[in-house]
Amino acid sequence: VAPATAMASSAAPIGVFDSGVGGLTVLRALRIAMPGEDFIYLGDTARLPYGTKSADTVVRYSLQCAEALVARGIRCLVVACNTVSASALPALRARHPGIAVIGVIEPGAAAAVAASQSQHIAVIGTEGTIGGGAYSAAIRRLSPAARVAGTACSLFVAMAEEGWVAGPIAEAVARRYLEPVFAGAGMGASSGASGAPDTLVLGCTHFPVLVEAIRSVIPCSVRIVDSAETAATAVRQTLGIGPAAAALGRGSVQWLATDGAVRFARVSGTFLGTALAADAIEIIDL
Ligand code: DGL
Repeated sequence: VAPATAMASSAAPIGVFDSGVGGLTVLRALRIAMPGEDFIYLGDTARLPYGTKSADTVVRYSLQCAEALVARGIRCLVVACNTVSASALPALRARHPGIAVIGVIEPGAAAAVAASQSQHIAVIGTEGTIGGGAYSAAIRRLSPAARVAGTACSLFVAMAEEGWVAGPIAEAVARRYLEPVFAGAGMGASSGASGAPDTLVLGCTHFPVLVEAIRSVIPCSVRIVDSAETAATAVRQTLGIGPAAAALGRGSVQWLATDGAVRFARVSGTFLGTALAADAIEIIDL
């Protein structure tokens, strides 16, 4: 498929895509960082989750998502999905050399290296993100001696979409995944002395909404890095937009999904704070 071509002007919208609703945590951070910009958000809800699929499939789906957004004249593409950022950035950049393609892993890795004193860093994400080793590689490029402990927390994705983000069930699942990672540190204890990681990267777009449950089962001294916030800063810097820059757009968002406007709208509440209206979401076919 030939790449779509569209004139991208400085006032053109910023394209953001994810496998589904999780990227809304990144969009929320982008809108806080750049409130005057216009965005187009695409959630590939028909094919969610990406996190359990092969890298080849994720690359193929990602190229189709990007194509749809580029055809609508975006000036920059934000890959608001860790699984896609882990495997598809080179293919996306090769297909769309005329626009900046920004993922969430490099900014998250940089923030983790900056936050960690011991350079012993835990990363949680989907099977695809952790299995591919993208965070370990990105962290070690910045801090060659860093120790990185990766854990796939697949159930967190479904729990976040179900709205089970706090309380006994969320905490029990968080404990099951994270206790082994921080074993020996002891609840409420400091992490560094025991040799446990002192920093935890939320390497999946769904995980920021579970932060309360995650926080309750790890040592209190562990620093939590949210790749959504750090990616938003990276996008702002890449586009050369200062914190107090004059707005180029109207602060609007155009919502696109590949399936299930009603479900997308309902689940969006967990990720955005307020739920969208289903009729605000345009269903498209990739
Ligand atoms: N958006 C994905 C990520 O950040 C999580 C959901 C999925 O598996 O598709 O890795």
